[in-house]
Amino acid sequence: MRCVNNLPGIAAAGGITADDRRAVYCIVNKTGAASILEIGTHRGVSATLLALALHHSGAREKKLVSVDVFDVNRENGSGQTPAARMKAMGFAGFVEFVQADSVDHLRRCREKYDLIFLDGDHRAPAVYREIPAALKLLNPGGVILLHDYHPGHRPLPVDANFYPGPSLAVEKLRREGANITALPLGTPPWNPAGQPSTLALVLRSG
Ligand SMILES: C[S@@+](CC[C@H](N)C(=O)[O-])C[C@H]1O[C@@H](n2cnc3c(N)ncnc32)[C@H](O)[C@@H]1O
Repeated sequence: MRCVNNLPGIAAAGGITADDRRAVYCIVNKTGAASILEIGTHRGVSATLLALALHHSGAREKKLVSVDVFDVNRENGSGQTPAARMKAMGFAGFVEFVQADSVDHLRRCREKYDLIFLDGDHRAPAVYREIPAALKLLNPGGVILLHDYHPGHRPLPVDANFYPGPSLAVEKLRREGANITALPLGTPPWNPAGQPSTLALVLRSG
């Protein structure tokens, strides 16, 4: 897992934790995903890891589309923009940034993806609408990766950022008959003393 946490500007840009950066990289690597849709660009930390994993995969037809409701590439003095980082790393050719609301984008999108990473609006009503729309955009064998999934809607032992929305949304969808299962990633094997991850794979269960 080369240089996943040593990328220039990544630690300072916030976003997903160092353990989750590794996990995201591994998921792309192990699933062989070549087409990825991300909801929630923010400062582009997870987008950079997704792009790095695609780059290392050697896939010829690779693409990453990263969506945010804000214009994340507007210069605002808070460091390198996501688009500038992609360009500096040589990834600009297969990465696209879209400014849109997640549900609007998911519902009007006509592309299919191997991996859809949901890390945008963490409130239950939004995630409840995002998941079914994302399921329709998956290639066969494709998976959704959900961030801030708290099993049982409980905060982690040490967790300043507690978002019950994603797990509440999954539970409501399942109660209503959606054929999905959430698989929380749990404690990262490379950091057994660390916090459990709040990443979860959402798969069709049948
Ligand atoms: C937690 S941040 C994403 C962090 C990023 N994935 C990372 O790890 O580097 C959430 C982002 O989702 C965006 N967002 C919130 N609601 C959204 C919506 N309805 N549609 C699209 N993006 C949204 C926010 O603007 C914010 O940039």
